[in-house]
Amino acid sequence: MSMKKIIIANWKMNPQTAEEALRLVKGILAQRLSKNIELIIAPPFVYLDLVRKNCGREIKLAAQNISWAERGAYTGEISSLMIRNLGCDYVIIGHSERRHKMGETDEMINLKLKAAFKVGLVPVLAVGEKESNDDIIKVLTRQVKSALEGIGVSEIGRLIIAYEPVWAISTSGTGMIDTPDHALSAVLLIKKIMSNLYGSEWAADLPVLYGGSVTSENAYDFITQSGISGALVGDASLKLQDFIKIIKEAEINE
Ligand code: PGA
Repeated sequence: MSMKKIIIANWKMNPQTAEEALRLVKGILAQRLSKNIELIIAPPFVYLDLVRKNCGREIKLAAQNISWAERGAYTGEISSLMIRNLGCDYVIIGHSERRHKMGETDEMINLKLKAAFKVGLVPVLAVGEKESNDDIIKVLTRQVKSALEGIGVSEIGRLIIAYEPVWAISTSGTGMIDTPDHALSAVLLIKKIMSNLYGSEWAADLPVLYGGSVTSENAYDFITQSGISGALVGDASLKLQDFIKIIKEAEINE
């Protein structure tokens, strides 16, 4: 089965100016983008509107986070409906930096997924073990199951899962990179867990991405694994030429 490869640029808390955000978007748009890839940019909240107005139809938008609460007295929070109303289609939920640096729990992630589905946002659920010697079966099973707890097959909308081993993220400080083989085995494990929850047909169509130190040099090796549906790219998505090369690798693969 041939599915569009998905490339997501996770800008994290960058860049520091709207001008630079615009430069990145315009630089990407200046390329002739293939219709055969799904290209998604996840800028910080403050640039979402700017990026939306300048990203054409080829690029889709993701928020990096949403509140688990629907509305009301939650100072500093942004609701799923606000994001949807702004024209976003996707939202990253459960990124390891939110889990480990901002104290997000499995329970919050579960509520955030429910909030996203409720308004028709497509969640990009990020999961992954913290240390390279962690029990990956145990960690991924817990993260996936708890995130989807109470979400029946009739409520679950379109979903993307990103496997991101925390130890392989470029800013983790380990200097370690995952191998395409290991990434693929983790992706297949996630599909197996999802198949147990929602059935094998549903899981077969579920896009599972890889993220963690994806660069223009190694992107091809990850993206071309037939079980891996694309990449969630952090650091390299802020370097225009590198990111364009990554997009091209995904296009070649189509
Ligand atoms: P990285 O980040 O590509 O800089 O490793 C990926 C991520 O954290 O989403």
